[in-house]
Amino acid sequence: MPVIAVVGALWGDEGKGHIVDYLSRDAEIVMRVQGGDNAGHTVVNEYGTFRLHLVPSGVFHPGTTCIIGAGTVVNPDTLLQELTELEAAGVDTSRVWISDRAHVVFPYHRQRDELEERGRGDRPLGTTRRGIGPAYSDKAARIGLRMGDLLHRDWLHRRLQQAYAAISARMIALNGEPPSLEELIARCETWRERLRDRIIDTIPVLQDAIRRDARILLEGQLGAMRDLDWGIYPYVTSSSTLVGYAAVGAGIPPQAIREVIGVVKAFATAVGEGPLVTEVHGELAERLRRGGPPEGWEFGATTGRPRRCGWPDGVALRHAAWLNGFTALAVTKLDVLDGLEEIPLCVGYRLPSGEILTHVPDTPVLEQVTPVYERLPGWSGPTSTARRWQDLPEAARGYLRRLSELAGAPVRYVSVGPARDQILMVEDGALL
Ligand code: IMP
Repeated sequence: MPVIAVVGALWGDEGKGHIVDYLSRDAEIVMRVQGGDNAGHTVVNEYGTFRLHLVPSGVFHPGTTCIIGAGTVVNPDTLLQELTELEAAGVDTSRVWISDRAHVVFPYHRQRDELEERGRGDRPLGTTRRGIGPAYSDKAARIGLRMGDLLHRDWLHRRLQQAYAAISARMIALNGEPPSLEELIARCETWRERLRDRIIDTIPVLQDAIRRDARILLEGQLGAMRDLDWGIYPYVTSSSTLVGYAAVGAGIPPQAIREVIGVVKAFATAVGEGPLVTEVHGELAERLRRGGPPEGWEFGATTGRPRRCGWPDGVALRHAAWLNGFTALAVTKLDVLDGLEEIPLCVGYRLPSGEILTHVPDTPVLEQVTPVYERLPGWSGPTSTARRWQDLPEAARGYLRRLSELAGAPVRYVSVGPARDQILMVEDGALL
């Protein structure tokens, strides 16, 4: 079986965890490839409702190996807490591994994130304050520490000593309290004790699996609009959310990835700052935010912030499809649109000059555009009970066909609620 990448098509929170949980039934390996505990992948299954921040969403399937890949940044405290919670719910975590190349998020990264956000005054980026940006910037500045460093005491001490002056200087520049070197060393010792058996070199594992043609799922974090290069910079995360980076983050050749599933929510949501062209406010926003069962309501899974909501944005979808080369789409939360008379689907961005763009421009231009809508008929009946393509109302199928056309990829999965059996698979050719 091919390697399958599951990536977000919008601003994150598309429901990747839900789709990965479903697809990992028959996967041998599920791997997180980028991001850190800024993620909040919501999974609802027989064990309960979970918001996974670091552990791959395949952990609920007993035979599946879960790997936190080299492209991620790992807060060991969050990871330990998450493992404890999963174990308390009866989930076997013995197959959760961490790449020795993944970077460590230290408490000082979180403090820096907090101080930097505060320093931006009334123009914040809206980060999750989980230290993700500072950890990736230390990685690029080569003063980061990696999970594998925890396994080599002398090396670790040397690396910490080398990096310490720069770590302290960054904190002092923000009027923060630098950590003490002894405290950092002590913390690393604790993490080593508790995590050392899980830290591995993933290359042999992946090479062996790919040679055997094992089914491997790569789980992305966030979506194309928050990509470091092609998202709404600077209101983006600090890693690449695109499939091109999935190969890097997993440590496999790009051509090993044969399928790219773009997860797209049936409408737009974003948590954090930056332009959201189709944003709606007031009652309409509340209607989208609190549609469907409460476990799926639109509040940030990591921060609890209410998510901004808007009409579906086909321009953003096309952008993501181009950048990722989707081979299929998974459309989530279709049920939230039940009962709307019509669905305004954005198919263009109008510039103040009147010119209409059909692609996502750079942020200063994006801030000036207004949406051009195509109005599709809505449907009345509940879709949450649908289990096959044929069960969906004709207008809902029409809407999905249109999304598929805009993305240039077939809709393969449709989710109509948070439960596993509420994901329906669209047979080949059913869209036509
Ligand atoms: P950071 O990744 O915490 O640095 O935040 C950068 C941007 O990405 C902010 O706009 C965040 O709100 C957004 N973001 C980060 N993680 C998530 C997530 O899991 N879901 C939705 N938005 C996120």
